[in-house]
Amino acid sequence: MSLGVALLASEATPLSKTGGLADVAGALAECLHAAGHDARLFTPGYASIDRGRFAPQPLPALQDIPLEVGPHRYVFSVSEARLPGSGVRAYLIECPQLYARASLYTTDPDEHLRFLAFTRAALIACARLGFSPDIVHLNDWHTAFGPLMLRTQFAQEAAFARAHTVLTIHNIGYQGVFGAEAVGDLALGEQAYLLHQDDLRAGHINPLRHGILYAEALTTVSPTHAREICTDEYGMGLQDSLRMRERDLTGILNGVDYSVWDPRCDPHLPRHFDAQHLGAKAELKRAFLARMGFTTAAAVPLAGIVSRLAVQKGFDLTFEVLPRMLEGRELALMVLGMGEARYEQFFTELAERFPGRVIFHRGYDDALAHWIEASADLFLMPSRYEPCGLNQMYSLRYGTVPVVRRTGGLADSVEHFDPVTGSGTGVVFNDFDAPALEWALNSALDWYAEPKLWRQIMRNGMAQDFSWTRQTEQYVQIYQRLAGR
Ligand code: ADP
Ligand code: GLC
Repeated sequence: MSLGVALLASEATPLSKTGGLADVAGALAECLHAAGHDARLFTPGYASIDRGRFAPQPLPALQDIPLEVGPHRYVFSVSEARLPGSGVRAYLIECPQLYARASLYTTDPDEHLRFLAFTRAALIACARLGFSPDIVHLNDWHTAFGPLMLRTQFAQEAAFARAHTVLTIHNIGYQGVFGAEAVGDLALGEQAYLLHQDDLRAGHINPLRHGILYAEALTTVSPTHAREICTDEYGMGLQDSLRMRERDLTGILNGVDYSVWDPRCDPHLPRHFDAQHLGAKAELKRAFLARMGFTTAAAVPLAGIVSRLAVQKGFDLTFEVLPRMLEGRELALMVLGMGEARYEQFFTELAERFPGRVIFHRGYDDALAHWIEASADLFLMPSRYEPCGLNQMYSLRYGTVPVVRRTGGLADSVEHFDPVTGSGTGVVFNDFDAPALEWALNSALDWYAEPKLWRQIMRNGMAQDFSWTRQTEQYVQIYQRLAGR
């Protein structure tokens, strides 16, 4: 039975992206569509969207619509783009006053309003389009007030008469908290009692918490993380609300879009390879080392990092470990990322201290990310917490051995290699501390020094399949259960 699914996401590839949420929103919409469902994407019309490429068409009936967010007045319009390849409908909520900023997310005082407005506008757009979804699928804090809005302000709206809600938590570390003095922005009137009262008394409003309280079904992006976020250690203050909803919470590992992330057809690479033809990987590495200005020999193991440089990603551990490893062992390191100043400064200084061996490219660069996945020998993700993580799964397919901490989706997608049985796909360490990371890196380098062993790890990883088709089926099961079919 075909389902109507309205997917609301604050970023979606290929339109806009800062991290994995975009990859997931885009891929899930496409896979649902391919499976015969009417999945439509709603996302903000950021200024950074390449309008030449995607040619969004203004929808004549959805222009200059007044939008009230509490006492604030905006005007929005809707334009429709089709995702290249799949033809999925993507509706851009156009409101330059809110979405024409230097970056997708900001620290501006109206940040909560930007996404309250987006959520409301997307629901209004749904109704005006005559689209009556079976499922409204919200993602992260930005759209987490959706279920409460549907239950209150949109309760009489015919378009949502049969709609059920799902909230996916991609990143519990970002909750969108704002001050209780802005309670009027929610315009709940007499229904304000539905807000989390303890938070209000403590002086704040937590969007993600309200999604957790009011969405009918909750998911997060790996089974391990679903268990983790109900604990005090990983719940980030929301564990009590999550425990209350534990029965409705499912962990579904993210998938990989192998049409973009596969060394057999990667559009960013001049040469392609698979587990039987690893020679081309070695050639790509040589070309990459030369192009980036490495002076190390091709035989020296190259570690890669592609990441937002945020506390979550665990690079604090590298402060102590990487300089020591680089002093003591043959190792080259390619880092691509941007984010918090202390990590940027650390990698800048590391590159200065080990010229020709460490290269830090500060910034966001999709093509370079593909080159690193293809050229590196190992890939480093020492995350403090990782709801799913995509790069370790990309790495597996590229024969780039992931070195990861056993948390969240990293634990669910990388199996620690066992030299005795020959099974396993990477190096997995348990504790979030420097000795554990150092042990992991040393293990990786020791195994790298034994080419037969290393090829075995590479091939084990390359044989893994994390395609979206299977994962999408798990979302569909949840949708169908809610829709009572
Ligand atoms: P998160 O969503 O927490 O950032 P994920 O591993 O789920 O982590 O997804 C990150 C995605 O963003 C991957 O597709 C990765 O390649 C990409 N990415 C992160 N930083 C950069 C960067 N500096 N340049 C290019 N791509 C990046
Ligand atoms: C988040 C998480 C990451 C996950 C991504 C997509 O930002 O940090 O682990 O893969 O969302 O779900």
